[in-house]
Order: sequence, then C-alpha cells, then structure tokens
Amino acid sequence: MGFERYVLVTGGAGFIGSHLVRYLVRRYRDWGIVVLDALTYAGNLENLSDVLDAPNCIFVHGDIRDSVVVEGLFRRYGFWGVFHVAAESHVDRSIYDPVKFAEVNVVGTVVLLSVAMWWWRRHSDRFHRFLLVSTDEVYGSLGEEGVFTEESPYNPRSPYAASKAGGDMFAHAFFHTYGFPVVVTHSTNNFGPYQFPEKLIPLTILHFAEGKPVPVYGTGENVRDWIWVEDHVRALDVVFQRGEPGGVYHISAHNEWRNIDVVHAVGKLVDAYLGRSEGTYRRWIRFVADRPGHDFRYALRAERIRGLGWRPQVSFLEGLKRTVEWYLTHREWVDRVRSGAYRQYLKRHYSALLGSSS
Ligand SMILES: NC(=O)c1ccc[n+]([C@@H]2O[C@H](COP(=O)([O-])OP(=O)(O)OC[C@H]3O[C@@H](n4cnc5c(N)ncnc54)[C@H](O)[C@@H]3O)[C@@H](O)[C@H]2O)c1
Repeated sequence: MGFERYVLVTGGAGFIGSHLVRYLVRRYRDWGIVVLDALTYAGNLENLSDVLDAPNCIFVHGDIRDSVVVEGLFRRYGFWGVFHVAAESHVDRSIYDPVKFAEVNVVGTVVLLSVAMWWWRRHSDRFHRFLLVSTDEVYGSLGEEGVFTEESPYNPRSPYAASKAGGDMFAHAFFHTYGFPVVVTHSTNNFGPYQFPEKLIPLTILHFAEGKPVPVYGTGENVRDWIWVEDHVRALDVVFQRGEPGGVYHISAHNEWRNIDVVHAVGKLVDAYLGRSEGTYRRWIRFVADRPGHDFRYALRAERIRGLGWRPQVSFLEGLKRTVEWYLTHREWVDRVRSGAYRQYLKRHYSALLGSSS
C-alpha cells in the first residue's frame, strides 16, 4: 500500500520515540511512518504494540550508523522528512562508556545527515525537514538564577551532553555549509509512560511501591525542568511542520523542580494510590554520593516555539499522577523490562507475522 508521503523516525522503540510514533501513526493516516531502531537495551518494541500493526507503521530493525541500511530506506521510501530521535541517552551510562556515546550520537547522526543530504540534493522539492531531537544538557549547568536561550553557547559537561552537542554541531554545519534544511529542538527532562525504569521518576515510583531504597544524588537540590512526554511530541510535530530551516527551538513547559521535591511528590502519590498512611514512603529515601559532574540546574527560555502556536497541555502534577498510575497498573511491562524478556518481543512479533508459532 502506498502512502502520500513517508517520514523516517529513528529510535522509535524508545521512550520519546514510541510516543512520537504513536502520535504520527494516528494523526497522519495517509503518511507511512517508517521506524528505524537498533533495539538496544533501551529499545522495546512492546512500547509500540498498540500501533505496530497499523497499516501506516513500518518497523525496521537496524542501526543508524549503517549507511547501507539508511540509504536503502531512502531509496525505497523517498522520505519527505526525518525525525532523528535515536541516541544513547542515559548520563550515568555515558560516564562508563563515552566511546559508545560518541559512536551513536555523533557518528550515527553524521551518517543520517549525510544520507539524507544526498537524497535531498537529488529531490529537494520532495524533502521537507530533518529534525534533530536534542537536549537542554548541551548548554551545561545554571546556578540558582538565569535561563538558557536559543543563542546560548554550548558548554556540555557530561559525556552524554558532549556527544549530543557533537551531533547538533554537525546538523548546524550541514545547514550552513550545504543549505540542508535542518531544525534542532532542545527539550527539558521528559516524563510519562514507557520510560526505562532506570530513570529518576519511574525508578522512584517502583521502589516506593516495592519498599526498596530510593537513591537521591547528593542532597537532592539539583533542579530539573520537566515536560510531559506527549506535550514534547506535539512540539516536535509543530517544529517539523513550521520550523525555519536552520532554526533552533527550545521545548519547555517551565516546570522547575528540585529532585528531592520530585521524590516527595512521587512518594505522596504512590502512598495515596496504594492506600498507605501518609508519609510511609519517607523511610525508603537514601541520600547517596553525588554523580560526578552533576549539573546543578537546567532551564530554557522557550518563546520561539510558542510563536509557532504550541503550548503545553498537561501540568507537572497531573502528568505525575498519570505516570504513577501507569507504572502501577503496567507491572507486566515493568517485569518484562527488568527481566530482559522484552527483548523477545521482536521475535514473537515477526513469528506472528509469518504465521509461525516458534
Ligand atoms: N528523555 C529525556 O528526558 C530527553 C530530554 C531531552 C532530549 N532527549 C533526547 O530525546 C531522544 C530520545 O530520548 P529517550 O529518552 O526516548 O531515549 P531512549 O534511550 O529511551 O531511546 C533511545 C532509542 O534509540 C535506539 N537506538 C539507540 N542506538 C541506536 C542506533 N545506533 N541505531 C538505531 N537506534 C538506536 C534505542 O534502541 C532506543 O529505542 C534522545 O536523542 C535524547 O537525547 C531526551
């Protein structure tokens, strides 16, 4: 079945990517949504189980660094645009394996940019945008005051942030050198369903519910700005459709919270959900040695995207409530992620497609 146009989404089986794919598949039924994902530990095809069988969702198991695969997809589908979401994304892991982060987040991004540019040079009338999903962490750390603007200089401080900054730099270079229509978004911390349980909010929910220690780095004073993942995904669509080539767009809902306050807010919601007496969760909070190079605070000014008509729709506490409920009612998903059983989903999915029960 042919579609009016095709877009490529990399990293579509991860946390943000799966929400983006679900959104695009349902909203643009006349577009083919091609998902390219290497299914690393962070990629879980089960995150897409409710859209994977939609006629306009096409999943491809592959690596963004593999130019042969990427070129083959461009030749086959003639993409109208790219949402580049795939990355190694966990700061703690980047501290132990920075080379992996450089390979995926820098080299992988350059491979995609190069192949997409090769396609665009031949079919510029049929290629709209290459959207690169980046992070607020490339700007480094703020003190109590101040905010980063789209013009702030880069000052990455973790290997993760440095690798994202490297990918961004190549995207900007492709715009300035070749005129390739790139847009780059920087969002704040996302939260919501399907986030890998090693990240702060899901880990805190699950450990409070299970009566396990909840580690808090340092004294928990570090401040993060949180955005409901579905608000982020709508913003990506807006920037993809209406962003200026070469443009940079911040995506923030201006929800600045100290980590320790997030932990308390989650604890209260978990206690309430489980019908426990108020404050039960407190016994499991553990302050642990701070992460090396832990940035104190991030905050973004985000007026430019509001000029494109985007507004966040879900408040932090409402989103947190939905997230707590989701994790506590999706224990099978959590168990399969923790046990590694989720990695069998690809095999099961294809066996089902091929009509085999093996
Ligand atoms: N999570 C956040 O709070 C946040 C905030 C700002 C920006 N971002 C950015 O958003 C993007 C998505 O973040 P996330 O939290 O959803 O990440 P995630 O770790 O949940 O998902 C990453 C996905 O990319 C895939 N992937 C990794 N390496 C790949 C490769 N070589 N080839 C193909 N696929 C590969 C993984 O399998 C996984 O499905 C990243 O670029 C990240 O830097 C995330």
